[in-house]
Amino acid sequence: MLNIALPKGRLGKKVYSLFAEVGYVCEDIFEDNRKLIFESNDHSVRYFLVKPSDVAIYVERGAADIGVVGKDILLESEPDVYELLDLKLGVCKMAVAAKNDWVENTGEPLRVATKFVNIAKNYYNSINREIDVIKLNGSIELAPILDMSDVIVDIVETGTTLRENNLKIFTEIMPISARFIANKNSFRFKNDIIMEINSKLAQKVG
Ligand code: PRP
Repeated sequence: MLNIALPKGRLGKKVYSLFAEVGYVCEDIFEDNRKLIFESNDHSVRYFLVKPSDVAIYVERGAADIGVVGKDILLESEPDVYELLDLKLGVCKMAVAAKNDWVENTGEPLRVATKFVNIAKNYYNSINREIDVIKLNGSIELAPILDMSDVIVDIVETGTTLRENNLKIFTEIMPISARFIANKNSFRFKNDIIMEINSKLAQKVG
């Protein structure tokens, strides 16, 4: 049986639909209950519903053979897994944003609030800008509003959160989308089935 780590939340349903379209149907997966493990109707795969930022951990440690995770998480935590395919779902961007009227003071280290400490450090390192990183776990947009930070480094999807908080993008760092990943041992020992799924998914996403 193949174990698949699926992200819970807004990406999860789209990702499950894709797997169902290529043959791994599991009717009760999004029923309103608190179950976390679901077998496909033909018992060939088992889905685990995990927090999006934890998918790569399950796959890296082999609890799941394959999974789907945002490129943001892969860049941030650099898990030891194979990244097989860009699923072109959950498309968004990693960006630097600040208050609409923000003016940079280049004489001071830049105060950067983010969930993505490594991405922020790598980006500012690449442009030789000294920063003071403030690690937050959510509602990042509050930090510049309260003048706790100068900027944020965060995911922007529709732009609504920024707009509704009078913030705007100053720099787009990189595009982000969901990636199909595999555990390295599973890729070796379950190669046929993983490559079969990979090519079916590739056909679907174009
Ligand atoms: C993410 C991100 C932004 C928001 C962007 O937060 O951190 O806050 O989505 O989406 P938008 O451009 O479509 O408004 P998430 O919903 O994951 O919640 P969080 O505040 O807990 O990080």
